[in-house]
Order: sequence, then C-alpha cells, then structure tokens
Amino acid sequence: MEINRKNQSDNNFEEVMDLFEIDYVYENKPIKRTFDEPNLENKQSLLENLKKKILSISDCELKKNSNQVVFSDGNPSSPIMIIGEGPGQKEDEIGKPFVGDAGMLLNRMLEAINIKRPKVYITNVVNYRPPNNRKPELSEINRYSVFLREHINIIDPKILILMGGTAMEALFGQTLKISKERGKWKELIVNQKTYLTILTFHPAYLLRQPDQKKFSWSDLKMIRKKIDELKINI
Ligand code: URA
Repeated sequence: MEINRKNQSDNNFEEVMDLFEIDYVYENKPIKRTFDEPNLENKQSLLENLKKKILSISDCELKKNSNQVVFSDGNPSSPIMIIGEGPGQKEDEIGKPFVGDAGMLLNRMLEAINIKRPKVYITNVVNYRPPNNRKPELSEINRYSVFLREHINIIDPKILILMGGTAMEALFGQTLKISKERGKWKELIVNQKTYLTILTFHPAYLLRQPDQKKFSWSDLKMIRKKIDELKINI
C-alpha cells in the first residue's frame, strides 16, 4: 500500500503505522550497524575456549607423543600475527612457540625491522610437537588448520606472516611452492574475512640454508614498508 506525504501528514503518526500492521519498537539509542572489534577481554576468553578445544583433541599422534600443548606467545592485540609449523623440542619443554634456535633467529629477524618480539602474536599450524620433529602430515595439517583459522579470526591481525611451507599448505593448499610464492602480498580469506598475508621462509630453513637469508631480508623489508604505509602502530 502506498501512502503519499499528504495523507501521512493528515493522519497522526501511530495511525499511519497501524496501516502497515507492523509492530515498531522505538528506542532512544541509535541502531548499531557495525561489528565490534573484539576487545581484549573478549579475545582472551575466545582464546581460552580455542585452547580448550585443542586440549581436548583425541586420537592424535602429535598429542600422544608430546609433553604439552604449545598454543601461542605474544600480544593478542597485535596487528601482526606470525604462523610457523609446529613446536620443536625446546617449545615442547617450555610450552611456548619459537623459543629454540629458530626462535632466536626469528627474534633477530624482527629486530632487524625494528619490531620487538613481545609486540607480535605467534603461533604454529600444529600445537603439539611432531615426533622427532618430523613435518606434520597432511591429515594433521588439515585437522589443526580448523583451529588455526579460528585462531586467525580471533586475533584478527592487519598483517599475517606465514613462515614456511607448512603454514602455506595449511592456509593456501598444497599446490603452491614457497620458493615461488614468498615475498608477495596475498589476500587470504578466512571465514569471510580477508587478511593481508605474506609468505616467507621459515627461520629453521634459514639456519640450514644461510644463503637464502637474502630473500628473507627482502621479505622483511617489504613487511616493514607495508607497516609504515598502512601506518600500523607496532
Ligand atoms: N619451528 C616452528 O615452526 N615453530 C616453533 O614454535 C619452533 C620451531
């Protein structure tokens, strides 16, 4: 039914509304049309929840053979999230990612672009140490990538840094090659949200292949440039 302005002004407001037979609710508060950025308290409880899910995983070779879960390290409010492969011996002992030799190199890589490690947020594709530090199997990568995706959504970083082939496989599939794809900005969609992402070599690989550090340095400079361009506060 169409009501012209003249009719509308002839009737009082409620009568016009009755014509539509709709119950309108009027409030003084403005309608909220935007999503809230999760606040820190919110994030902490979402992270706790996620950790509980990972702790309750069953029939997992990784969990059975490890000492403890290695969930994350760093600042959950950070605009930068780094994803590695999985815990090694030291990480399994201490319960934090990147605390062994690869972690020491990661710290220096971050410092080289003026980022203090506690300012970023760090996790891995798998949260339990693979036996003898083997690469996680595809079935394990797929299983844990469900948690990883949730983890990314909770942290909601401005820049996502994937270190090594396992992180790349977990989020982009198996068809890409890290040597070809590193050093390029990509868009990664995780549960309908798009994340600015870069792939780069894993620090453990750089320890084995120091001649590849030049590529890593070029990637780090790209990351620094993007942080400055986007005026990211870190
Ligand atoms: N390598 C990783 O990928 N993650 C760690 O936590 C340590 C080494």
